[in-house]
Amino acid sequence: MGVSRRGLLAAGFAALALPGCGGGAAPQAEPDRKVEVFSWWAGPGEKEGLEALVADFAKHNPGIAFDNAAVAGGAGTIARTVLATRLQNDDPPDSYQAHAGRELTEDIRAGYVEDLRDLYEEQGWLDKLPGGLVQAITVNGAIHCVPVNIHRSNLLWYRPQTLASLGLTPPATWADFLAQADAIAKRGLTPLSIGPGWTQKHLLENVLLGVLGAQTYAGLWTGGTDWSSAPVLAALQVFTDVLARSDVATPAGDWQPALDRVVTGSAAYNLMGDWADAYLRTKGLVFTEGYGVVASPGTDRVYNFLSDSFTLPRGAPHPGAARKWLVECGSVDGQDAFNPQKGSVPARTDADRAKYTGYLAAAVAEWADAGTRVVGSLTHGVVADTAWNAKIDTALSTFVQDRDAAAFARAVAAGRTVS
Ligand code: GAL
Repeated sequence: MGVSRRGLLAAGFAALALPGCGGGAAPQAEPDRKVEVFSWWAGPGEKEGLEALVADFAKHNPGIAFDNAAVAGGAGTIARTVLATRLQNDDPPDSYQAHAGRELTEDIRAGYVEDLRDLYEEQGWLDKLPGGLVQAITVNGAIHCVPVNIHRSNLLWYRPQTLASLGLTPPATWADFLAQADAIAKRGLTPLSIGPGWTQKHLLENVLLGVLGAQTYAGLWTGGTDWSSAPVLAALQVFTDVLARSDVATPAGDWQPALDRVVTGSAAYNLMGDWADAYLRTKGLVFTEGYGVVASPGTDRVYNFLSDSFTLPRGAPHPGAARKWLVECGSVDGQDAFNPQKGSVPARTDADRAKYTGYLAAAVAEWADAGTRVVGSLTHGVVADTAWNAKIDTALSTFVQDRDAAAFARAVAAGRTVS
């Protein structure tokens, strides 16, 4: 049974109902001269995107200095810890990066972020974003972030020359991957390279999606799918089989070094979001000749999405400049400067498609295609709040060691936060 993009997004987020936190930014006597922006875009493939956005911001706001408070580390695992301390200590930046969806749940509840509804109305954004995305970021009528992009999580990256030398084509299912893996290992290559814990969770969600299908996957996060059911346990078993064909015993330090193993030809595949496209381009590689990509096994025509967005923290030292930063993030110019560098597609539906080439030309078309099924990422904040994600992280680090699928399923189900 097909599920439309709009339908899935609506179903996935219908249960979001949290106490809103109203209030606008305090009026400024003097215009702000600087804006401190907190993100985790410090590494290769990410900082280039941020730089392009900042350059466009500077063009529109020559009087405002950009203070880059980026903290390195893929998926923001380190940055989010640093940020939490700052927010608790009443020391917010002017704007911080967060994923659209449930990742902001606790911050909204704690009153850390302002409602930006007035900015949305002023800028006319509401009908410029996909309806499902607006629904995902609306909590009790309030909107606390401005999405700058849409990333796709479920992608399998490879080098055509490596596959040619192995006589292989990319696997369409995880069973295909497992069938290839022994042959790849016999040739002395790692079938799938992997990095730290968050990349293992990223792999997990996409194995579950690929084996269970979009609808059952979506139910894992809404309560509609029983974690201890036979199909889920079987999918978890596939995850352990896949992991056994990876270099998880000696994982790379972060997602870029894991991809480097594919670049140098010591690994055949890496499963990563489309920020990998930006990174591979920084290596001087050209799409289709130097690197290729397919939907991760079993997920053809499914978009496992996430969206980077920016907030206005309550008590931001420079709220006037912060609002200008948010206007930049939500603008066509800003999104069309940022996304071609970042390896993502614009969140706005009225951006200039001609600016998206190579891998991104196909991504823009697939995202806009009404037949594409959309589900939300666990690892990147769409479908589960931070509390549940933290419990899943703990359970996963045990699961990766003991491979006890039933115990993992029980721990994940028990950790669910119903918010
Ligand atoms: C995601 C983020 C992406 C990219 C990736 C790797 O969480 O949304 O923009 O930065 O982490 O760090």
